[in-house]
Amino acid sequence: MLDKLNSLFKRKKIIDVDEKIKKTNGQNEQLIFKIDFSSQKPELPEIEDQTKLDFRYGVIIPFAYIHLSWDDVHNEIVYGVEEPILDVHEKEILNTLEQGVQELIDISFVNVDQKEVLIEYLEKNIRILLKELGIELNRNSYLKLMYYIYRDFIGMNKIEPLMNDQYIEDIECNGIKTPLYIVHRKFGNIRTNIVYDDFDELTGFVEKLSQKCGKYISYANPIMDGRLPDGSRVNATYTEDVTSKGPTFSIRMFTREAWSPVKLMQVGTVSAEILAYLWIAVEHGTNILVVGGTGSGKTTIINCIASFIKPEARIVSIEDTKEIRLMHENWLPSVARSGTGVGGENIGEITLFDLLKASFRQRPDYVIVGEIRGQEANVLFQGMASGHSGLSTMHADDVKTVIRRLETPPINLSPSLVEILDIVCLVSYAKVKNRDARKVRAIQEIIKVSGSGEAEVNTPFQWDPRRNIFMFKRDSVVFNKIVQKKGITFDELQKEFEIRRSLLNFIYKKGIIEFEDVQSIINQYYKNKNTVLKRFGLI
Ligand SMILES: Nc1ncnc2c1ncn2[C@@H]1O[C@H](COP(=O)(O)OP(=O)(O)OP(=O)(O)O)[C@@H](O)[C@H]1O
Ligand SMILES: [Mg+2]
Repeated sequence: MLDKLNSLFKRKKIIDVDEKIKKTNGQNEQLIFKIDFSSQKPELPEIEDQTKLDFRYGVIIPFAYIHLSWDDVHNEIVYGVEEPILDVHEKEILNTLEQGVQELIDISFVNVDQKEVLIEYLEKNIRILLKELGIELNRNSYLKLMYYIYRDFIGMNKIEPLMNDQYIEDIECNGIKTPLYIVHRKFGNIRTNIVYDDFDELTGFVEKLSQKCGKYISYANPIMDGRLPDGSRVNATYTEDVTSKGPTFSIRMFTREAWSPVKLMQVGTVSAEILAYLWIAVEHGTNILVVGGTGSGKTTIINCIASFIKPEARIVSIEDTKEIRLMHENWLPSVARSGTGVGGENIGEITLFDLLKASFRQRPDYVIVGEIRGQEANVLFQGMASGHSGLSTMHADDVKTVIRRLETPPINLSPSLVEILDIVCLVSYAKVKNRDARKVRAIQEIIKVSGSGEAEVNTPFQWDPRRNIFMFKRDSVVFNKIVQKKGITFDELQKEFEIRRSLLNFIYKKGIIEFEDVQSIINQYYKNKNTVLKRFGLI
């Protein structure tokens, strides 16, 4: 069989996608490999006792399923990927076919983003390959092999089933001979049954991952930050000297829909009061920093807050990887890019710092910086001091740490510049009735920052973990600032706050949750408040 393959390789039959599809037109009825991409997110059962968990759902139907179950040995939930089982003979044929595909087919077709077109192309070529090699397969074996070829060439190999699971937030691989972990939307951090045993296999996969992100990873450049075509964020390392267990990768899966403010209310992360407060704050150009740990939901919150910005406002957003999603027409999104070059040169590099400096020339009403870590924070605060409004996130646990990080290298802000910040919104993971939840733990308003770096704060909202409620103190420094600056009375502002709170509660009760729908109500409210209030029977 290999001889035959070798002689085929010599002929190097490179097949062009369009040509091939044209040539085989009319033979489509023979194509039987189909994947159901239309499937909705499955409903997971509500389970009181996790040790009874035993549930399957399809992710690449009808080929790959996820089995969530309780592992009595380790006393934890495990995430099992179930795929078709191949016998020895089928495995051999799969190897031969995969070599054939690698050598014969124009892999650049992988850039075509319509999966159906790719599958058709692949299946037609596999048929040619099988014929040329004289391999006969029964329908069942054929479909199983097609699945693996699809998975390994069009998909993301072993983790392709995970990439299709809408319940996954993160996928983490910490090296060889150790199971991959995922963060499951319902069950949190859990172990999977996927392990890379082979160093070369994992290295090859990390290279493929980088290629898919349009990046290059190598011994000279062993760390990669990128973004997959579907928007998922990727970090990877390449060599053992960087990470002890060999190459690693982590993928933050792209959430298809931006989360609306009402969705955040629904999952209990915020209250209607918090949202009404933030809405008023943003309308009046308040500077807000969302602060929390890794994966605590900072970007999701900043996106939600940004949806409250007036629909006609000029917004500029600046990020390392594009995560912010808005519907504002006058929004200019920009993304930093890493440079290429050897010996420390970074030709073509455009940093957050560069973008931010340029952004202020575009006279934005609001500047959104995905995350501040270094020098760019300095530019953002200068910009805020000169009258532009700013929204950003920072990795920290409390206001004290935020201020310390802002005032020490590499950021080095003076206390008076730190005072430009109006609101710090603290988010964190929490346990509510033994379940993982994300909470806006507190909203703090900066009153004053002393020369020694101590901040005086007011805390209008605080989450009470014991009772799982958001405590609300009707005293806001930010509202007072708005009253002074905008000539509105405190009572008027308070009334507006109550109206918006009722409106948000009402929208929630009506089940209007989707980002677009909520955004459209916010926009209408700005344009014609009374029509909206009448529509919801609030006046
Ligand atoms: N309030 C929430 N409840 C449940 N899941 C959430 C919530 N907020 C965010 N998520 C999910 O958690 C994941 C991480 O969210 P997000 O990117 O907003 O966090 P982050 O703090 O910005 O992370 P990072 O530190 O990596 O920048 C996403 O998959 C998102 O859909
Ligand atoms: Mg983030």
